[in-house]
Amino acid sequence: MPDIIIPWPVTRLYDKYPNRIFAKWFSKIAAEVEAEGISGNIVDLGTGPGRLPIEIAKRISKGKLFGVDLSPDMIKIAKKNAETAGLGDRIEYKVSSASNTGLKDNSMDLVLSTNTLHHLSEPVKAFNEIYRILKRGGQAWLFDGRKDATRAEFMETVRRLDLADDIPALQIFSRLWRAVHVGSKTEVYFSGKIGVAIKESSFKKAEITPEGVFMRIRLKKV
Ligand SMILES: C[S@@+](CC[C@H](N)C(=O)[O-])C[C@H]1O[C@@H](n2cnc3c(N)ncnc32)[C@H](O)[C@@H]1O
Repeated sequence: MPDIIIPWPVTRLYDKYPNRIFAKWFSKIAAEVEAEGISGNIVDLGTGPGRLPIEIAKRISKGKLFGVDLSPDMIKIAKKNAETAGLGDRIEYKVSSASNTGLKDNSMDLVLSTNTLHHLSEPVKAFNEIYRILKRGGQAWLFDGRKDATRAEFMETVRRLDLADDIPALQIFSRLWRAVHVGSKTEVYFSGKIGVAIKESSFKKAEITPEGVFMRIRLKKV
């Protein structure tokens, strides 16, 4: 069972909607990274059009940012987006898998990922890869959609992320998202199921919290 790679030309559509809309969310995640004083080496797994490392590079001037994705076209788009933002020299994007990044052992201060866990057919492999590349004391913040999110949680997310103008686009995306992913063999977006995968991995435990339509998984390499 392969991982779900977003194919061309859907990559181009994904860049415009919804990833462009998600930039507001990525900016909030970047603000948290800054507030927690995290810098050094930071990687985004399943970076897609690369906007999360771009938002971090806008706030944090020290350290090196990486973005990896299995889709060559996504990486092409990410490089172009970083160049347009004038941050091409701060971020290294490369085509590789979240389960086999090619990054060095014990090299990352923070591993991030948004909306990608449900694309992975073997999430335990990805968790073990995250463990391998993290420095001791390093953290991972992994965000993914919650299958069981309610309408009220959707509206709360829209308010928190200031997305009221984007509701029609988000509704279309969320319908498409469910149609494409729900029932697929890679679906892992019930927190209980993700918790089981983490227990099987080198991390053994995680903090999993709902954040509106998303869940946040916090992992630490002790
Ligand atoms: C829904 S997109 C998320 C993109 C971006 N992080 C966001 O939040 O908008 C999922 C991405 O994961 C990528 N992907 C799928 N399997 C992967 C794997 N094993 N390793 C790295 N990326 C993968 C897809 O190509 C796609 O770009």
